Amino acid sequence: MAYLGIDIGTSGCKALALSSAGEILATHTATYGLDQPRPGWTQQDPAIWVKGARDAVSKVLETVPVGDIKCIGLSGQMHGFTPLDANGEVLRPAILWNDQRNAAEAQEIEERAGGREALLSLTNNRMLVGYTGGKIVWMQVHEPKLFDQVRHALNPKDYLRYVLTGEVATEVSDASGTGLFDVRERQWCQPLIDKLPFDSAILPPCYESMEVSGTVSALGASLFGLTAGIPVIGGGGDSVIQTLGTGVAEPGPLQTTIGTAGITAAALDAPKSNPDGRMQVFCNVAPDLWHCMGVSLNAGGALGWLRQLLGGTQDFEDMVRGAGEVPAGAEGLVFLPYLNGERCPHPDPTARGAFVGLSARHDARHMTRALMEGVVFALYDIYRQMAGMGINGRLIKASGGGARSEIWRQMQADMFGCPVVTIEGAAEGGAFGAALLAGVSLGNWSSITEAAGCCSELTRQSPSDKQHELYGSAYEIYAELYPALQPSFAALNRMGDAI
Ligand code: XUL
Repeated sequence: MAYLGIDIGTSGCKALALSSAGEILATHTATYGLDQPRPGWTQQDPAIWVKGARDAVSKVLETVPVGDIKCIGLSGQMHGFTPLDANGEVLRPAILWNDQRNAAEAQEIEERAGGREALLSLTNNRMLVGYTGGKIVWMQVHEPKLFDQVRHALNPKDYLRYVLTGEVATEVSDASGTGLFDVRERQWCQPLIDKLPFDSAILPPCYESMEVSGTVSALGASLFGLTAGIPVIGGGGDSVIQTLGTGVAEPGPLQTTIGTAGITAAALDAPKSNPDGRMQVFCNVAPDLWHCMGVSLNAGGALGWLRQLLGGTQDFEDMVRGAGEVPAGAEGLVFLPYLNGERCPHPDPTARGAFVGLSARHDARHMTRALMEGVVFALYDIYRQMAGMGINGRLIKASGGGARSEIWRQMQADMFGCPVVTIEGAAEGGAFGAALLAGVSLGNWSSITEAAGCCSELTRQSPSDKQHELYGSAYEIYAELYPALQPSFAALNRMGDAI
């Protein structure tokens, strides 16, 4: 008996098979790229997701007999907009979560809602630039002829669901990330949608994350080498479902992710109010659970950028080893990770990255260390917003590719002043959470808490008092930089017309 998780990530698709004992039987990632046709724009042709998923699933099925797969859970990068016509054909490349083109349309939605406060009272979220709602309106304004053909607006994993099952559907966590969802009532926010210029019929029916949304079709079976009839559950947006895969199934601990983006998150037992909408308060993967997170747009992605800049030949491991040779604080160098604008706590598409404090004695190792620390400061910046909402965690469960690095985990322990643990499977991200949830849906585990409990702790690191103090001072400098530089970022943006 096995459960299959498939995650449509930003840099690749991961498939993962999990046994009923919670053991990872096989996993494979097929990588793909990202198009940036203009500064601030990010797009992907959904065909590369399907190809990635076919490659990843077929590799997993080399190890796990297809007859063992009893249920499938889907996960994916959130907020992406995949427009389909009446025949289910993709009309244009999907516009991704980190695309910054639709600030005007996000603003327009807030205005149509009656202002930010009115929008918050409807959805408990503001219309952040990354959310799907603004992308839909952007296409309607900028590509009106093509938009007339749109019959379905799907998030990335929901497009895969369509190819796999023939069903057009979403679930509550990704629906939350459209900004058009009433997260308190766990349903589309009709009073808001009624005020918007597009036909609400393009929004798909919405399931709870562990509900079965369809079964693998004959076409899906032939495409993916699966058996027709396997149930496919709702699943979840990656940043939400990977909290389950990190062992966070109830309020208490914090969860951090260092993937392409950096995330600090926690589970909530009620939809806490989101005072100025800087945080994302979304539905979680169990019907009585919610999720609070803030997303910094550049984390692991920033390290990838620096690697390219330094010639692109060094392994990440070597870069991180070099950073470990430099003392905490990078000898007076601070990095702002806003390479592609920022979302939380500074919702600002014009924000830009910066190394501040460079001197002639700094080398690539210092820059790498400062960059890794800047990513951790960004995670802590988000936590300070959460603490303002009364969410205080004294244990971090770390996930994402960055959680594989002992140095990056220790930086988190030292900055937050609390232990950092990893659990088995957590580095596998959304695919692991999706496979666990598929197991809960089929009754293999009685609850998500029981499912999360089956994963043993792999690593634990404690904070050092000395480094905690040092990072406290460095963070204060970091926190002052964005407000000081914001006018320059805006002016540079106007000068370069860069978005
Ligand atoms: C979550 C978010 C990102 C994407 C990409 O709000 O924007 O985490 O889901 O992984």
